[in-house]
Amino acid sequence: MSRRTLSFICQNCGAAHSRWQGKCEGCGEWNTLVEEGGERPSGPSRKSGKGRTFALEPLSGSAQDAPRCASGIGEFDRVTGGGFVRGSVLLLGGDPGIGKSTLLIQAAAALARTGERSVYISGEEAVAQVRLRAERLGLQDADVELAAETAVEDIITTLSQGRTPRLIVIDSIQTMWTGTVDSAPGTVTQVRGSAQALIRFAKRSGATIILVGHVTKDGQIAGPRVVEHMVDAVLSFEGEGSHQFRILRAVKNRFGPTDEIGVFEMTGAGLREVVNPSELFLSERDLGQPGTAVFAGIEGTRPLLVEMQALVAPSSLGTPRRAVVGWDPSRLSMVLAVLEAHCGVRLGGHDVYLNVAGGLRIQEPAADLAAAAALVSSLTAAPLPADAVYFGEVSLSGAVRPVAQAPARLKEAAKLGFSRAVVPDAARGETAESGLQLGEVASLVDLVTRIAASGKRRGQDE
Ligand code: TYD
Ligand code: MG
Repeated sequence: MSRRTLSFICQNCGAAHSRWQGKCEGCGEWNTLVEEGGERPSGPSRKSGKGRTFALEPLSGSAQDAPRCASGIGEFDRVTGGGFVRGSVLLLGGDPGIGKSTLLIQAAAALARTGERSVYISGEEAVAQVRLRAERLGLQDADVELAAETAVEDIITTLSQGRTPRLIVIDSIQTMWTGTVDSAPGTVTQVRGSAQALIRFAKRSGATIILVGHVTKDGQIAGPRVVEHMVDAVLSFEGEGSHQFRILRAVKNRFGPTDEIGVFEMTGAGLREVVNPSELFLSERDLGQPGTAVFAGIEGTRPLLVEMQALVAPSSLGTPRRAVVGWDPSRLSMVLAVLEAHCGVRLGGHDVYLNVAGGLRIQEPAADLAAAAALVSSLTAAPLPADAVYFGEVSLSGAVRPVAQAPARLKEAAKLGFSRAVVPDAARGETAESGLQLGEVASLVDLVTRIAASGKRRGQDE
């Protein structure tokens, strides 16, 4: 009797259903169920219900420090937490065309140059295409081993021979297939089965494997979401189509921090590391225009100055527009509500647009003060001082709260030639020795008064 059962697997979330239905009960997506053959039971067969005994170990045993190997790309290592951990598996996700293959061939080549064995398996491109790209990137002399293969068992058998590779790149996990599963390549079951086999191989051999995963918005191809739980780290490679900057971010990391970002620039000769991102994000500053404020932020352990731009314009719509790029829309709504409720700033009849320049996405609440400053500046047409930075969290009562790492933010601002900072009043003690002229604000009302006063002063001068 066959133990295999057919089931309908949601291609979006991986939930299994016994019948076909229009909507997945797991994630609520429509039309995502696909009939798939179940996995054949693999592994050593067990006749009776008895298990084998294994040794249990004390927690206090000698812990091996996760042995790492630097990739040779500093920004990559910053995100992984200091290099590739032996036997770990990373998933690199990102939109098509963002530069995943470029980043990984560069990483593989950098590692090969240090004398380690590094392998690049492409399931999407022919060897000649990968070579062509490597040539364009000036990497043809690096000793990377290439193959265009998609059968996971063949890959594992081949790589088990000879010296254990230090790094194996699998581009991409959606193109891989394993004989232990009946479904077509690209389906959730295949992706999961292939990833499982590769993860087992990594743990056994000590090689680091990087899986590339495509993320599609419509959920047509099996997303790599099901793999996220299985791997040690999930990295995401992001960028705005119209900008050259690419940001590598750790979404999950069992061996390192998840708040560090790596910044790259896509050039004609591949990805270039950007060691000082603040200079990049401030390079095209709209100096002295109303509606722009510089936010002194922190990404991980690194200070990062970015420009926040706001446009507040009278609206002809019943419900005015609120549009945000690069920041959390609900935080914008909150800042707008606090401005209305506590500062007497009327925004109900205005469209509000907020944009973080350079295609960066900010997640810190510390950006509240800079966003508020940009909004008020745009509304009152009063430009903010071009040499000032802002940071502080706004609470619902209208108070401006101190944020972490104020000295690091101020130091970065001073380094980049800023001479003033508008900071939370409560942070006074920490911020004394920065060399910047500090303007402390205790509440959002203070900030609004300050900007309105500068607007008036300018009006009188003219
Ligand atoms: P690619 O790494 O193929 O993206 P992915 O693997 O994420 O789909 O990169 C594709 C884009 O990168 C493509 O639009 C061209 C651009 N690119 C450059 O601008 N410079 C380069 O040196 C290379 C190799 C690619
Ligand atoms: Mg690619």
